Amino acid sequence: MKTTFSIIKADVGGWPGHAKVHPSLEAIAQKALLESQREKLIIDFHVTHCGDDLELIMTHTNGVDSKEVHSLSWDTFCEATEKARDLGLYGAGQDLLSDAFSGNIKGMGPGIAEMEFTERKAEPVVAFMMDKTEPGAFNFPIFKIFADPFNTAGLIIDPSIHDGFVFEVWDIQEHKNVFLKTPEEMYDLLALIGAKSRFVVKRVYPKKSSKLPSSEPVSVISTEKLYQIAGEYVGKDDPAGLVRAQSGLPALGEVLEGFSLGHLVSGWMRGSHNGPLMPVSVKDAQCTRFDGPPRVTALGFQLKNGKLTEPVDLFDDPAFDLTRRKAQEVMDYMRRHGPFEPHRLPMADMEYTTLPKVMEKLGSRFKKVK
Ligand code: F6R
Ligand code: MG
Ligand code: MG
Repeated sequence: MKTTFSIIKADVGGWPGHAKVHPSLEAIAQKALLESQREKLIIDFHVTHCGDDLELIMTHTNGVDSKEVHSLSWDTFCEATEKARDLGLYGAGQDLLSDAFSGNIKGMGPGIAEMEFTERKAEPVVAFMMDKTEPGAFNFPIFKIFADPFNTAGLIIDPSIHDGFVFEVWDIQEHKNVFLKTPEEMYDLLALIGAKSRFVVKRVYPKKSSKLPSSEPVSVISTEKLYQIAGEYVGKDDPAGLVRAQSGLPALGEVLEGFSLGHLVSGWMRGSHNGPLMPVSVKDAQCTRFDGPPRVTALGFQLKNGKLTEPVDLFDDPAFDLTRRKAQEVMDYMRRHGPFEPHRLPMADMEYTTLPKVMEKLGSRFKKVK
């Protein structure tokens, strides 16, 4: 049986500011998805949040880009937006950039990570959700998980993954994609995805030699960039991603190990600062200091015929205390730089903020230096 696993997410109002999702918005989503489950549109679901992003995790058999599932998500976000307006929450409807749903939620503001695959006998899936950062924040951990033997011991030890994986990379400026094989094309891959604001890992596939079907992704990341839709900075594109684990794939612990550095990502405060990505429990998924720091949560499920077990809140564990402590130190160090790069993003990445306006205002005052 082929199952579709979807995360569709949007910021439809913050509580307070851009800190967190109000529980009443999650309650609305819970009710809407339960109804759809009863009507058999979806098999199972889990509603959660990361910071100010409302996250709809759903399983079904409608395939990716299903009009019905996208429409359900859109309607749910619209209903939650109304509630956010009633409560006076901050930035109600922030990520809903269009008025009318036209069959696919892509390009309308929400982030989407979906994959369809044949369930194995036992299928562990981890849903990762990030706030105050951008899709390229996944490049580093996804590379570590699927291509770095210092992270994933299985790449050396387990014959079933020893051949490596295929990365689908998107150039989000040129709207092109390329497939690169690891380990043989690892340096080319890194040359691209190190430039994380432009090249993002979209999916990872098993190789033809794998016992898993090579046409079915084992990981997928949302890659929507809001400024490309809106033409200006309207909030960050806080991403979500899915990773399958075990038997022929990296082990669960190898998947989580990819997040053990607290690596630097962009998107903190006004989408304009670099800072460490701190792995946290759902309980701690609220953005505070300087609207951050950027956070990631991980919910682990076992999947059976589309049904989900209760999730395990995987970063709710002292094993990640040191990563969090390090992230806090780095956060403090970065903050001391104030408006200076590399805490503040470089010029090219500030293109959609006020910086071009400052340049325009000062334009005629710039004189040629003799
Ligand atoms: C970052 C983010 C926040 C806001 C900041 C200003 O992704 O969402 O840091 O950019 O709080 O928000 P506004 O412009 O809504 O006052
Ligand atoms: Mg917000
Ligand atoms: Mg957000």
